[in-house]
Amino acid sequence: MKKIVLTGAAGRLGSYLREPLSKMCDTLLSTDIVDDIGTLYEGETFVQADLAQMDEIKPLLEGADMVVHFGAIVDEAPFEQLWGPNFVGSYNIWEAGYRHGVRRIVYASSIHAVGMYPRREFIGTDVAHRPDGFYGLAKCFTEDLGRMYWEKRGLESVHLRILSAAQVNNPRALGTWLSYDDLIQLVTRAIDTPTVGFTVAYGVSNNDRCPVDNANASFLGYRPKDNAEEFAEKVLAEAPEADPTDPAQMCHGGPFASVDLGSSGLAQMNVVDDRKKS
Ligand SMILES: NC(=O)c1ccc[n+]([C@@H]2O[C@H](COP(=O)([O-])OP(=O)(O)OC[C@H]3O[C@@H](n4cnc5c(N)ncnc54)[C@H](O)[C@@H]3O)[C@@H](O)[C@H]2O)c1
Repeated sequence: MKKIVLTGAAGRLGSYLREPLSKMCDTLLSTDIVDDIGTLYEGETFVQADLAQMDEIKPLLEGADMVVHFGAIVDEAPFEQLWGPNFVGSYNIWEAGYRHGVRRIVYASSIHAVGMYPRREFIGTDVAHRPDGFYGLAKCFTEDLGRMYWEKRGLESVHLRILSAAQVNNPRALGTWLSYDDLIQLVTRAIDTPTVGFTVAYGVSNNDRCPVDNANASFLGYRPKDNAEEFAEKVLAEAPEADPTDPAQMCHGGPFASVDLGSSGLAQMNVVDDRKKS
């Protein structure tokens, strides 16, 4: 492959994807709104750009085979804050991708597109959208955008509904964990599978307590290796008493399901910034 574009390259997940992606193509064009992503890997270039600005995004996609679109504001927030990066940003990526003849977009969607489903429902990739906030709504919008560009314009996309790519430090994460190694495998499969059309897959490791069903995405050949059960004894021993009336404990979206629209869900979680240094 000649060229891959990675958005959100400065982010936590981007930091783990840059090196493996740089090995899959002649040129990895990494981009983010921040001005520095550290030392570049062989074959990698970096351009600062704002996803919300089409004139900044469009030139980056020229000559690209695929885009790995991970850039976004990553939390529940007021609609007006998410509109530019998360809604318009997705449109800019798909429209610029179409105009430049990009073959495929691999998108970091989220469990929050379906976060209001009760956890006792073992949901597949084909359930109706049920977002738990504006952040999840932007993921729903982008999944629908991807389906529309596939059906009307033949631009392929894989939408990875990531559950929790973060350290396992709460009972919910025993089911939702996506290890960084499994993330890399999932993104790699989304890129190297010959045809995907429009595909949705959950981004989750091989956890005993996994709450979602990836059967429809089996053809991608994603076979996660890690299992959060190794953390269960410690996490459960330290967990506060369970409350079956709390949507944060009962819904797929976790804390995002219980906060007010526009209020931070991450503030309720203890996400450790363990991004990889390049
Ligand atoms: N980490 C998770 O558990 C998780 C779960 C579900 C979905 N996701 C999705 O995965 C992707 C990466 O998440 P992350 O955990 O690495 O988050 P992150 O916040 O570390 O990375 C997001 C990156 O996007 C960049 N960005 C924000 N606004 C931008 C703009 N206007 N223009 C250009 N770049 C901009 C940020 O600077 C940041 O580097 C996001 O799309 C997120 O929604 C992550």
